[in-house]
Amino acid sequence: MKKLFPAIALCLLIPAVIIGCKTRFDTTKSNYKATNSSASIDRGKELAFSICAGCHYDRHVNKFIGMQIRDVPGIAGKVYSANLTHSKTNGVTAHYSDAELKYLFKTGIARDGRFLEYMLRPNMADQDINAIIAFLRSDDPSLAAADTTAGRTRFTWIGKIYMSMHAKPLPFKEGVKLPAANSVAMGYYLVDNLGCFHCHSGSLTKLNLLYPDQTKGYLAGGIKLKGANGQKITASNITPDKNTGIGDYTKEQFRAALTDGRAPDRQLKPPMPRFRMLKTEEIDAIYDYLQTVPAVEHKIISM
Ligand code: HEC
Ligand code: HEC
Repeated sequence: MKKLFPAIALCLLIPAVIIGCKTRFDTTKSNYKATNSSASIDRGKELAFSICAGCHYDRHVNKFIGMQIRDVPGIAGKVYSANLTHSKTNGVTAHYSDAELKYLFKTGIARDGRFLEYMLRPNMADQDINAIIAFLRSDDPSLAAADTTAGRTRFTWIGKIYMSMHAKPLPFKEGVKLPAANSVAMGYYLVDNLGCFHCHSGSLTKLNLLYPDQTKGYLAGGIKLKGANGQKITASNITPDKNTGIGDYTKEQFRAALTDGRAPDRQLKPPMPRFRMLKTEEIDAIYDYLQTVPAVEHKIISM
């Protein structure tokens, strides 16, 4: 009986968890439409190449056709990002209204009611969300219809339980404003929305998306990510600590690291993105903001 108990408890617990955790949520009925001008499309392109490209852009074909997300552990299943091109058969955005896209980015709720955490940007200014949607609707060559698909997401039962326990949509926050250009606040905004803090903090699964700087191990590095050939690459400590962080970086060195992956001591490997489309003043705002973050001594042992 004693031995049976844990097995029985587990059998009762698993369905309880699955039933108890909601996995489908209502989407929006708003009739919001993105306004598109050439300025908003340009801004949207900059953001899409700086944020979405890491997960959706295939460099072999130069299009947003989707790919496998290799940082999801195999035990949870296989996750593929979506084809964002204008393909009627395999593209996803043709089926989305502008309002549903905005709702997805702010709450994590997809149009079919699933919760997708990857794209959550609760603090993104409405103006920037508008720009991304305007870009997704544009005739940029990177979005020209491509009827391929990288693969279909399949979770194992462990992955399903994990996902249902983590299905926590965020409240729809309207009216978020862009901080003043070139300010430290803009630097924080970019560290949040470009996802620097996702990779550079303590854990990919324990992010505080609403209040990024309250994330455990904020910007002090240490997460092991998958590199280009599946090898492990540890994300750096980017707090201003002199010995273990980037306290010795000059502004010029920081610009080179972000746009070309040229760190003072080495060439940075993927998945550190190349932020080629960021403007110099935006990179400088990030630099200024990072100087204000508490220095954390945390030595990164790269492998
Ligand atoms: C960290 C990786 C990641 C980032 C960054 C990311 N996505 Fe995704 N995206 C995914 C994955 C994974 C899926 C597919 C999830 C699934 O169906 O299981 C997806 C799905 C989507 C979908 C389809 C949702 C559906 O209903 O199937 C849209 C639209 C989308 N992404 C747009 C974007 C845009 C636009 C950006 C940039 C602002 C972005 N994504 C950034 C990983 C990412
Ligand atoms: C997808 C994950 C990911 C994202 C997003 C990301 N980084 Fe990185 N970053 C890394 C990894 C991994 C490394 C280590 C690369 C190596 O050691 O070759 C790195 C290295 C760095 C370095 C070099 C530090 C050193 O060791 O000298 C700097 C600076 C940096 N990142 C800043 C940023 C900033 C700022 C952002 C946001 C604009 C950002 N990163 C976004 C993964 C990421």
